[in-house]
Amino acid sequence: MGNDVNRQVRLAARPQGTPGPEVWEHTSEPVPEPGAGRLVVRVSHLSLDPAMRGWMNEGKSYAPPVGLGEVMRALGLGRVVASRHPEFSVGDTVTGVVGIQEYLESDGSGLQKVQPADGVPPERYLALLGMTGMTAYFGLFDVGALAEGETVVVSGAAGAVGSVVGQLARIRGARVIGIAGGPEKCSWLTGELGFDAAIDYRTENVSQRLKELAPDGVDVYFDNVGGDILEAVLGRLAMHARIVICGAISRYNAEGVPAGPRNYMNLLVFRARMEGFLVGDYAERWGEAAAELAGWLAEGRIHSREDVVDGTVDDFPEVLLRLFRGENTGKLVLRLGETRTGS
Ligand SMILES: NC(=O)c1ccc[n+]([C@@H]2O[C@H](COP(=O)([O-])OP(=O)(O)OC[C@H]3O[C@@H](n4cnc5c(N)ncnc54)[C@H](OP(=O)(O)O)[C@@H]3O)[C@@H](O)[C@H]2O)c1
Repeated sequence: MGNDVNRQVRLAARPQGTPGPEVWEHTSEPVPEPGAGRLVVRVSHLSLDPAMRGWMNEGKSYAPPVGLGEVMRALGLGRVVASRHPEFSVGDTVTGVVGIQEYLESDGSGLQKVQPADGVPPERYLALLGMTGMTAYFGLFDVGALAEGETVVVSGAAGAVGSVVGQLARIRGARVIGIAGGPEKCSWLTGELGFDAAIDYRTENVSQRLKELAPDGVDVYFDNVGGDILEAVLGRLAMHARIVICGAISRYNAEGVPAGPRNYMNLLVFRARMEGFLVGDYAERWGEAAAELAGWLAEGRIHSREDVVDGTVDDFPEVLLRLFRGENTGKLVLRLGETRTGS
């Protein structure tokens, strides 16, 4: 497309521990013209997801690893700028797997059109109204089978998924305890978001606080972090508790084989169940969840917070690390600047 350049970030090496600049290669190539039945998307927003760390590892997982030399996999949002595809027109807004690059050339598979509603910022379609909201909704309601009056604990509570989980639990009539890092995040949870209580895991003893805040035990634990916090909640289960394994960010950069949980036999004692899930498994029901979430948003019963960083694709490696340092509140999004031309 003329002289436009498509800047990209590719995976150059498999990281050991936290991914530093050495694992990335910054490249550029001409923006492609769409082939027959294909389209080109100008990417405007990139979704920063802890799962990206797992996609960088070799080995079997729920998705194949990003190959060395390939453009880093990423969800995002953008606008169709050229199309020879019957179902997409220039000007359409789309979300899906776009990669860490300024332009995506695609056959359209895996891309969904969104109709941006008035007053809804585009980044929200990567947050509450996108994959993040779907993860919270199906994880809590389907896997967690949450019922009114139950006690819910969610870790990573001030993050993208966790902040939605706690609010959904309140809407369902449950009591919600959030676990997050730092006093500002904890005050946001109990203030603006209406959580019943919050535990600052950096300064407080999580087991002790859970004993005080959930004397009758925890019915649903929505786990985003794994590790010591998972063990602490396993030590305070109610009978027939459900533990939803959404993720384990505390371990994503760990080297070597992780320990524990040492007290998993509490699952037997309390006839509890622990179950992992993938949001993609619920793709056929996304419409149902999106409609319900949009309704609650419009009624002011749920808030969506996006932590938007302005930059270019070259900023991706550094912005990604904010997730692992706990520097985001709500959904972390990299908003890309205007298209550069020439060179
Ligand atoms: N199963 C699925 O289909 C699915 C889909 C989407 C996401 N997920 C998972 O859901 C979890 C949350 O994802 P997200 O997108 O919402 O990210 P996020 O929570 O917005 O961001 C990560 C947060 O994790 C916390 N964190 C980082 N290192 C930690 C550690 N060592 N111990 C405890 N907390 C730590 C930080 O908050 P603090 O300041 O509180 O430490 C950070 O802000 C991740 O595990 C992700 O992999 C799963």
